[in-house]
Amino acid sequence: MYSWPSRSGIMAGNSFGEIFKITTFGESHGGAVGVVLDGMTPGIPISKEEIQVQLDRRKPGQSFITTPRAEPDKIHLMSGIFEGKSTGTPILMILYNKDFEPGAYENIKEMFRPGHADYSYFKKYGVRDWRGSGRASGRETSARVAAGAVARKLLEARGVKVIAYTKRAGGIECQTFDPEAIEKNPLRACDPVAAEKMLEVISKVKDEEDSMGGIIECRITGVAPGLGEPVFDKLDAEIAHAILSVGSTKGIEFGAGFAAADMRGSEHNDQMDSQNFLSNNAGGIIGGISTGNEIVFRVVVKPTSSISRVQMTRDMGGVTKEIRTIGRHDACICPRIVPVIEAMACLVLEDHYKRQAAMLA
Ligand SMILES: Cc1cc2nc3c(=O)[nH]c(=O)nc-3n(C[C@H](O)[C@H](O)[C@H](O)COP(=O)(O)O)c2cc1C
Repeated sequence: MYSWPSRSGIMAGNSFGEIFKITTFGESHGGAVGVVLDGMTPGIPISKEEIQVQLDRRKPGQSFITTPRAEPDKIHLMSGIFEGKSTGTPILMILYNKDFEPGAYENIKEMFRPGHADYSYFKKYGVRDWRGSGRASGRETSARVAAGAVARKLLEARGVKVIAYTKRAGGIECQTFDPEAIEKNPLRACDPVAAEKMLEVISKVKDEEDSMGGIIECRITGVAPGLGEPVFDKLDAEIAHAILSVGSTKGIEFGAGFAAADMRGSEHNDQMDSQNFLSNNAGGIIGGISTGNEIVFRVVVKPTSSISRVQMTRDMGGVTKEIRTIGRHDACICPRIVPVIEAMACLVLEDHYKRQAAMLA
């Protein structure tokens, strides 16, 4: 029907992890999204409610700057849990889509939204699922958050704590770190004063039919030294893979990160005494293996691509067109990405704990 593409690809790459492994399925405007979680430890008490707590942090409609799409994101536990405990068999979790409006995309179904995955998906598969964003939708990440909640439970028993927050958004940087403030402001920023300024800037940008991005920081405490595999499965490489698989993330840095470029070795080296590391410029991982120091990384989130401002694009016939993405989108995705970053970090760590245990067995 269409002149391009010349060949069609298959859609692999829906699974992540080695022993503790997830496979996600579903589209933003299809019947449901969900996840199969394999490699679960048997006998662990898991309730729907504790998974729901994490999903509620990611769900749309939480504030003025996030999409008003009214998805309840209610979790359905279909298998792998019996009498409140994991059986060790695959856990299937489903979230039915309730508030899908494919009609809202009808007027742009022949056009590619700039900055979104429409064009690249079409070039690869030769199929245009114009209802929302298909697999490239942020909605897919609700399945990851559900699985991440299970991983978090296992990690908590190991004494591992994972926390992420908005460090920067709308060009405003947090100046203080107040963990209590994070869940109390719509940006999930760690500085309540900066959060107010961020909200002001992003609200203005939204009124101008535009969007903004930011930086999410993640801190992980309690990780034992020794996690991570040389050479290709280094812990930092696997975390980077997990994080950069989340839509709209454009970069990651560990510890001192890109600032290391201007530091001297004498400044950057994390010296030790008999008790502790004296700094944490490595971000808790050296040689791809955890040191026992806090794992710290930061993630760049791009400005939301769907904006209602008029932009140039092309249609499926290759003709230049003007497009306005009128719909329900986040003016800044940062607060909704925070629980997704935590979930992906939890999934990588639990997988590596299980890989370590398998190696020692
Ligand atoms: C939780 C979440 C919500 C998102 N919401 C939107 C949105 O409302 N509008 C949009 O254009 N992109 C949104 N995205 C980003 C797109 O999924 C992403 O930009 C797209 O898949 C292209 O991938 P890339 O930006 O990583 O290249 C969201 C992503 C996440 C993780």
